[in-house]
Amino acid sequence: MTRPVPPAEEPPRVPLYGEDFAADPHAVYDRLRTYGACAPVELAPGVHATLVTNYRVALRVLHDTETFSKDPRVWQHTVPEDSEVLAMMSWRPNVLYNDGEVHTRYRRALTDCVSLIEPFDLRQLVHRSADALIRAFGERGSVELIGEYARLLPLMIFNGLFGMPDADSARLIGAMARMFDSTSEEATRGLEELQEYILDTVSRKHAERGNDFTSWLLDHPEGLTPEEVVWHLVLSVSAGHEPVTNLIGNALARMLSDSRYYRTLTSGALTSGHAITEVLWQDPPMANFSTHFPRRDVDLDGTWVRSGTPVLISYAAANTDPTGRTGGPRSDAGAHLAFAAGPHACPMQQPGLLIATTAIDRLTNWLCDIRLSVPYAELTWRRGPFHRALAALPAQFTPISPDQKGSTPWNVNPSSSTPVA
Ligand code: HEM
Repeated sequence: MTRPVPPAEEPPRVPLYGEDFAADPHAVYDRLRTYGACAPVELAPGVHATLVTNYRVALRVLHDTETFSKDPRVWQHTVPEDSEVLAMMSWRPNVLYNDGEVHTRYRRALTDCVSLIEPFDLRQLVHRSADALIRAFGERGSVELIGEYARLLPLMIFNGLFGMPDADSARLIGAMARMFDSTSEEATRGLEELQEYILDTVSRKHAERGNDFTSWLLDHPEGLTPEEVVWHLVLSVSAGHEPVTNLIGNALARMLSDSRYYRTLTSGALTSGHAITEVLWQDPPMANFSTHFPRRDVDLDGTWVRSGTPVLISYAAANTDPTGRTGGPRSDAGAHLAFAAGPHACPMQQPGLLIATTAIDRLTNWLCDIRLSVPYAELTWRRGPFHRALAALPAQFTPISPDQKGSTPWNVNPSSSTPVA
């Protein structure tokens, strides 16, 4: 087989960090497909990468651990220290950025502990957290669903899963808000607060175990040190917060703007599950990630990729690849890539889906006439190469109050919101 000859002149790189990409990513994916299975992109000014847009080639990269490594240390020193992509792409001692035995050991501990999460308890935790948030805006008749619901709820859930008292979720929420919203000084303070919160969680559980994710990790037979447990709780918050927020936000935006979700019971309405499935295919919460580094120069379906340079998977483009799902007797037909695939596929798929579905159902059950305050086409999306995230989701509904008849978030049916034991 002959090696493809590297082109004399590099084709123009397509930026993924600007307004254009945020406003209409699928138009950009169409343009990227004209390059073939892979396209040259810019993740931030001057930060180059190869983006895989073809479903079949995406699966090849995600599964081929001999050719592709997840360890960014061969590359990260080439990026300016203040580059915003490093927060997502630089090495840490956790499951995401390691290969081989190290990855297998962490992965085993994580998946075993995830399997101990009881769906019933998790659903009750989502109900309790959702009700607390809805109580804060229910009497107002209007809400900004990203900032007041979708972004806060996953943090309250993580706080509960980690075994911390409900009151401590305010610390986690405060730290993440500072990291997310503010100047670099505030963001540094937010990161310090997050580290303090996680260190505190692990040292409390180290002193006294409970029936929670932190204690299960500490006690796992793989023998993770408290420091390794700290790294994995930090990863759970950072890998879990953004996608769950976006999954809830993107699915709610579709549901609240599409009459198919509003038909009567007799004519049949689509459910939150349908909206979530549609989002996972069309607008996955993480649009482009799964960074890999080829261990040698490699021919990726006709594109020449240099050793040690980043190759990312576009889950959004691969899912909508016109050549991807051709039907027929393929074993992978019908599988979207929103949770990636292969050895680094998301270990929290089932709990993540349960959190998002329950959060949406709880909100739309209490506020049954909730609707968007602006048309779907006028919603704005956050800039950035990795996520598909609404900047805001304003909605209106008939106000509810604590003294109205029947059950309310202030006066809940205990059988549907019994606190987690
Ligand atoms: C429900 C929405 C979620 C989506 C769409 C999602 C998506 C993904 C994707 C695409 C990856 C692959 C990343 C890569 O290879 O670079 C991943 C990995 C991962 N996710 Fe999720 N995720 C979700 C929820 C969560 C939650 C709630 C947690 C934890 C609390 C979590 C923890 C992780 C971890 C630890 C990995 C790394 C696994 C490994 O490297 O072996 N995810 N997720």
